[in-house]
Amino acid sequence: MRTLAIANQKGGVGKTTTAVNLAACCAERGQRVLLVDLDAQASASDWLGVKEEGKGILEVFTDGAPLAPLVRETEVPGLAVVPASLWLASAERALAGQPGAEVLLRKAFRKLPNRWDMVVVDCPPTLGFLAVAALTACKEVFVPVEAKVMALKGLAQLTKTVDMVRDRLNEDLELSAILACRVNRTRLAGEVVESLRKHFGKKVLHTVIRENVRLAEAPSFVKPINLYAPESSGAEDYRAAARELLR
Ligand SMILES: Nc1ncnc2c1ncn2[C@@H]1O[C@H](COP(=O)(O)OP(=O)(O)OP(=O)(O)O)[C@@H](O)[C@H]1O
Ligand SMILES: [Mg+2]
Repeated sequence: MRTLAIANQKGGVGKTTTAVNLAACCAERGQRVLLVDLDAQASASDWLGVKEEGKGILEVFTDGAPLAPLVRETEVPGLAVVPASLWLASAERALAGQPGAEVLLRKAFRKLPNRWDMVVVDCPPTLGFLAVAALTACKEVFVPVEAKVMALKGLAQLTKTVDMVRDRLNEDLELSAILACRVNRTRLAGEVVESLRKHFGKKVLHTVIRENVRLAEAPSFVKPINLYAPESSGAEDYRAAARELLR
């Protein structure tokens, strides 16, 4: 089972857009995918039309609860979701007195039934408890980067956190891929992609995700891009990214 944490502590860079559409495009290629929404904003859950009314995934961290009963099927064949719950917002406070709680997601992953080829985690835009729990549970970190701003500085903080988690909590962790998102025709976008390739070499996917209004519209239609606008550049780009990821 491949496990990917979609992470970047910068807000609004395309984490959720990438988590949902990459997961859906991998499912389209025959993978059985479980998307775990670890952001209290629940944007990925809303996008796919699934809801958790109870404490949901917070109980994985407070009580060691299993994930399987929290899984919801979606209308996308091959794609299931563990939705976020509003209670996740209280995670940092609720878990302050519970040493080692960040390893409980990994334990829950290990107990998952043998039904999924891939688990994709949508992380919140902070490097707090929940992101660390995701990095501890996953083998791969997949980093979407917004090509509209010089991204390298922010990435230094993320790579430092990844190194610390590898050192202390999860020796299998690797930064597996960087994906440039919201790439437009400006010179800056070209420069950002170039500087990423210079610093991170082959880790930067050959595919870039172009700015595409269909991607911004899709959540309102409760469908991933490959179903909402299958001919759009957004669908083309996320399909190409999925192909690269699965190669
Ligand atoms: N390639 C794209 N083309 C056009 N709009 C995009 C693209 N990627 C993301 N967006 C838009 O940018 C905004 C932020 O994207 P998204 O929610 O995926 O980022 P995020 O990193 O998950 O944000 P947060 O840190 O709040 O969780 C959204 O309004 C989304 O529709
Ligand atoms: Mg998000």
